[in-house]
Amino acid sequence: MTSKTATAQAIYEQLEGQLSKERVTELLEAPKYEHMGDIAFPCFALASLQHQNPKLIAEVLAEQLREQCSSQFERVESVGPYVNMFYQKEEVATSVLSTIIEKGNAYGTQYEGDGKTITMDLSSPNIAKPFSMGHLRSTVIGSAIANLLEKCGYKVVRINYLGDWGTQFGKLIAAYTWWGEEEKVRLNPIQELLKLYVRFHREAEQDDALNNKGREWFQKLENGDAYATSLWEWFREESRKEFQNIYDLLGVSFDSYKSEAYHHPQTPAIITKLQEKGLLVRSEGAEVVSLDDYGMPPALIKKSDGTTLYTTRDLAAAVDRMETYHFTESLYVVGNEQSLHFEQLKAVLVKMGYEWADKLIHVPFGMMLRDGKKMSTRKGKVVFLQEVLEKAIQLAEANIEEKNPLLENKEIVARKVGVGAVIFHDIKHHRSNDIEFSYDDMLRFDGETAPYLQYTYARGCSLLAKGAPMPQTTSLLFAQDDMETMWPIIKLLQEFPDIIKASAGEYNPARLAKYLLQLAQSFNRFYTKVRVLEESTFQQTRITIVFAVTTVLKEGLRLLNIEAPTKM
Ligand code: ARG
Repeated sequence: MTSKTATAQAIYEQLEGQLSKERVTELLEAPKYEHMGDIAFPCFALASLQHQNPKLIAEVLAEQLREQCSSQFERVESVGPYVNMFYQKEEVATSVLSTIIEKGNAYGTQYEGDGKTITMDLSSPNIAKPFSMGHLRSTVIGSAIANLLEKCGYKVVRINYLGDWGTQFGKLIAAYTWWGEEEKVRLNPIQELLKLYVRFHREAEQDDALNNKGREWFQKLENGDAYATSLWEWFREESRKEFQNIYDLLGVSFDSYKSEAYHHPQTPAIITKLQEKGLLVRSEGAEVVSLDDYGMPPALIKKSDGTTLYTTRDLAAAVDRMETYHFTESLYVVGNEQSLHFEQLKAVLVKMGYEWADKLIHVPFGMMLRDGKKMSTRKGKVVFLQEVLEKAIQLAEANIEEKNPLLENKEIVARKVGVGAVIFHDIKHHRSNDIEFSYDDMLRFDGETAPYLQYTYARGCSLLAKGAPMPQTTSLLFAQDDMETMWPIIKLLQEFPDIIKASAGEYNPARLAKYLLQLAQSFNRFYTKVRVLEESTFQQTRITIVFAVTTVLKEGLRLLNIEAPTKM
């Protein structure tokens, strides 16, 4: 039982059924200042029930708790309408530490998701283009959310819905037939294809006939033309290879690669169903579903030349995911510029009669900006992610060379540190914020960064390795002087399961990231003040703290997809 649950229980018993245990738990809060206690109970709700002065109620309740629960609380005070409680620190510490020793990296694991499946659409880059910063955000935020949901017991299906279908491939094929050189593309596929794509858009601005050619090629592709298909397959294969390099570096993998093209053959069935339901209407030659009643622009289903659209394929994919996985939630980790698209998608599914449409959840995130502006692939203004990652790794290597040249497996450690820095830089901000791309910020290794967390973890590991006694929990002895720096750590350790739950529930890995920083900071304060390795009656306790902190740091970093080397 956590201290919060135990506190709720104690208060609930004193109130003799006036409030439910759940309500008491909800009302409990952290006091404004640390010196005011560990947890506080406001008496306003009781006051309105009893038509009494909240201050009086607080005084009575505090008195009762002092008398009945002295083993649980060191001190109970009433301050105005609040009851402030101070936990019995040693008792709480012993209980948290023993739970962590017993559970190891399963500490914080929960079961609310047992037997339930969540599909998650994440990463989903577009082929024949460089892997963008937006797709990096989707990949790292999505993976962290997926790990958190798994930690809460859900089965998560990670789906990489590659963008490999659509008019743009018609344009690319057209551009290749005019200006493409096979040799060049073979040597440097993504960069060359990007050049062709950029040139197409530049020239099409002058001459709209190019766009028509592009549309024609896409039509051919949709109709299975052999030449168009073979080019498309080649571009796709090259892209898959490049993307795989990045996924290997980031250490992420997927359960399904069902792409836009995979779902293309399912679109006729969707269109038939829309027709049967009388939902398709003609508008300027195209076929659309009107969403006037939702106050939204119509959803485009079929163009005048008969080709399908992004929404058409997403409809097919949504239905396929439901039929395959029977999800309790279907998440889409996609930039907030696509919010309207997902609103429309859901609205059309509702109109088609799918009651599960409300289980589709768009988990949006802000943009990565450059000089305050969106990066545009069409204009060729992109940062190559592979380059960013390689730079980060080189920097980490240089750092190690300087600080710890004798370290074993330097390359592996540098990779973990460099990649960790890039991932954490992205995750530590709430996902809805836009972030300005900055090499300096991304490659900083001190302050609120992954390398700082990794250093803290490695420091813990080295303490544990230095022949210190094994952590244990029976009869821990606490030095009074240690408590001041130890108590914040104990409180944070105790919070870990709640942090997991909240981060998963809000699809918000930034919350876990912030928590890990706090934990590392309080551990580093403890470490500077207390001599962990000095032989004394308290050594066992101190080493147990080190063990608990390293366990939670490592598990927390793992959930964020960041590896923690034991030596740095
Ligand atoms: N490939 C798309 C893009 O880069 C993202 C796909 C998101 N997922 C989806 N089911 N629409 O914009």
